[in-house]
Amino acid sequence: MRPHDVKEIIISTQEINRRVACLVEEISRSELRKNFVMLGILRGSFMFMADLLRNFYSFGMSPEIDFITLASYGSETESSGRIDLIHDTDEDLREKDVLLVDDILDTGRTLDFARKMFLERGARAVYTCVLLNKKVHRATQIEADFSGFEVENDFVVGYGLDYDNNYRELPHIARVRFHDKEVSP
Ligand code: IMP
Ligand code: MG
Repeated sequence: MRPHDVKEIIISTQEINRRVACLVEEISRSELRKNFVMLGILRGSFMFMADLLRNFYSFGMSPEIDFITLASYGSETESSGRIDLIHDTDEDLREKDVLLVDDILDTGRTLDFARKMFLERGARAVYTCVLLNKKVHRATQIEADFSGFEVENDFVVGYGLDYDNNYRELPHIARVRFHDKEVSP
């Protein structure tokens, strides 16, 4: 890992909690049928999934849940474009409504890949929900149906997001400041 620090909190735990509750309210008012399947993309989505689910309870929504693992390769902080399915779901998604959940929408390749895959398998509809939306690197048409916060062209960690599999445990979102370069990737 390059020399860096993660001292600068850009989204606090309290802000995350408030926004997650609002997102669930938005989802509850959407076209998504009540008995949907929620699929988290590992590993970054685990904390967000848990908080979304706790809030769904208050709205009387009880989705089935599962996780898939996708890997996108590239440098430590930039995606290359190739997506691999490392671990699949065995849920039968035919005629089901699916809510795909990821930590961050960046180039869009990950969500685009997963969305197309589940539509090909016969899902009735696939909605997407991300905590963070980083618009600068978008390489696909995809936009999230539900999105928590917009972030700038920074590399961010915490609340499930990692830098080289570190910092996932932070209860907030922090900016990674690289010391060998003025501007982060
Ligand atoms: P996409 O396929 O480029 O949209 O990338 C999505 C994946 O890249 C996310 O699921 C993250 O794992 C990773 N990613 C993109 N930006 C960041 C970041 O700022 N911090 C940590 N992970 C990131
Ligand atoms: Mg990820």
